[in-house]
Amino acid sequence: MQIAVPKEIKNHEYRVALTPSGARELVGRGHAVTVQAGAGEGAGFHDAAYEAAGARLEADVAKVWGEAELILKVKEPQAEEVARLAKGQTLFTYLHLAAEETLTRGLMESGATCIAYETVTDRQGGLPLLAPMSTVAGRMAVQAGAHSLEKAQGGAGVLLPGVPGVAPAKVAVIGGGVVGENAARMALGLGAEVTVLDTSIPRLETLDDRYQGRMKTVFSTADAIDEAVRECDLIVGAVLIPGAAAPKLITREMLAEMKPGSVLVDVAIDQGGCFETSRPTTHAEPTYIVDGVVHYCVANMPGAVARTSTQALTNATLPFVRALADKGWRQALADDPHFTAGLNVHDGQVTYQAVAEAFGLEYIAPDKLLG
Ligand SMILES: NC(=O)c1ccc[n+]([C@@H]2O[C@H](COP(=O)([O-])OP(=O)(O)OC[C@H]3O[C@@H](n4cnc5c(N)ncnc54)[C@H](O)[C@@H]3O)[C@@H](O)[C@H]2O)c1
Repeated sequence: MQIAVPKEIKNHEYRVALTPSGARELVGRGHAVTVQAGAGEGAGFHDAAYEAAGARLEADVAKVWGEAELILKVKEPQAEEVARLAKGQTLFTYLHLAAEETLTRGLMESGATCIAYETVTDRQGGLPLLAPMSTVAGRMAVQAGAHSLEKAQGGAGVLLPGVPGVAPAKVAVIGGGVVGENAARMALGLGAEVTVLDTSIPRLETLDDRYQGRMKTVFSTADAIDEAVRECDLIVGAVLIPGAAAPKLITREMLAEMKPGSVLVDVAIDQGGCFETSRPTTHAEPTYIVDGVVHYCVANMPGAVARTSTQALTNATLPFVRALADKGWRQALADDPHFTAGLNVHDGQVTYQAVAEAFGLEYIAPDKLLG
C-alpha cells in the first residue's frame, strides 16, 4: 500500500504520525512509505533516519498527498489539507469532529474514509489512542505546576518536596482518570502530599489499591473541593464528563480562599476548563494570574514534549496502521469492532453517531458499510 506521512501544518504542532522505526516496519511488510521532507524534524526525527528505514522523502506536498492510499497524520486536517483529500483515500488521525462542523462537511465532500484516533476503543472500555496523550499531559501538569510555584513565575516560592525540617507542598488532583493518576503519581514521586478527588468510587478504589494509601483518595463533593482550595499549594484539574463541557468546580469567589501564589493547572481546558477563571493559553505564554493565583491552561500540553509525545502516540497507533496497510480499511475494521468505532466519515456519509447528532446529519452505522 502507498502510505504518506505529511508534515503537520497546524500552528506549533511539532509531532509526526510515524517514526523511522514505524516506517521500517511498514516497509518491511512490503508497503511504500512516503514522508514529506522535514516532517519529523520538530520531534527530532531527521530525514536521513526515514531514508535509512526505507522510506522515500518527497519535498512536494501535492505529490505526498496525491499519490497516497493511506494518509497518516496527528492533528485534524486544516482547510488546505481537506482540499487535498480525495475519494478512495483513507485518513487516520485525530479528528475531534463533534465540535467542528466545517471540517465534518469538508471531509464528507472529499469522499475519503476518515478514521479518528480518539474514538477507537479497547476491551476495557478505554480510548487507547487518546490515553498516551493524557498520560503525557498528566505527567507534565506537575512539572508545569512545580515551575509555576517558583517566585519568578508569580508563585508562592514553594518547593514541592520541601526539605528536611520543612513540610512538603500539598497537591490536590481533581479527577483521577488517566491525566489525574499520572499527575498524582508525579507529585508523589516528587515528595508532595497528594490528594486525589473523584466522583467514581471504583476509580478511587483502584488508586487506593495501586498506591497502597500513599496518596489520599477523597470522594469529590463541593465541600471536599472547598477544603482542597483552602489548603493546597497546587491543584490540577483533570475531570472529564464524556461528550460534555467540563464542570466549573472552582469558582472565581473561591480563589479568595486560596493561598496567595498557589497554582491551578487546568488540563481539562480542552473541554472548556474546570475552573471558572480558566482560559486557554499557549506554550509561548502558558500562565496568567487572577486574584494572586497562577493559572496554567495550555490546551495542547503534549506539543511541548513533541519527541516523547510522538513516540508515545506512534507506539499506540502502529498496530492499527499495520492492520490498515496489510488488509485495507474495510477488512481491518471488519476484523476489530474496537477499530470500527474509529470510523467517523466514509464516502460522504457520517458513520459516528455523536457527530451525526451534533450537526443533524444522517447517521449510517459502520456495520452497514462493512457488510
Ligand atoms: N490540555 C491538554 O493538553 C490535554 C491533554 C490530554 C487530555 N486532556 C484533557 O484532560 C481531561 C481528563 O482526561 P482523562 O483522559 O484523564 O479522562 P478520564 O476519563 O480518564 O478521567 C476523568 C476522570 O474525571 C472524573 N470526574 C468526573 N467528574 C468529576 C468531578 N466532578 N469531580 C472529580 N472527578 C470527576 C471521572 O470519574 C474520571 O475518573 C480531559 O478533558 C482531556 O480532554 C487535556
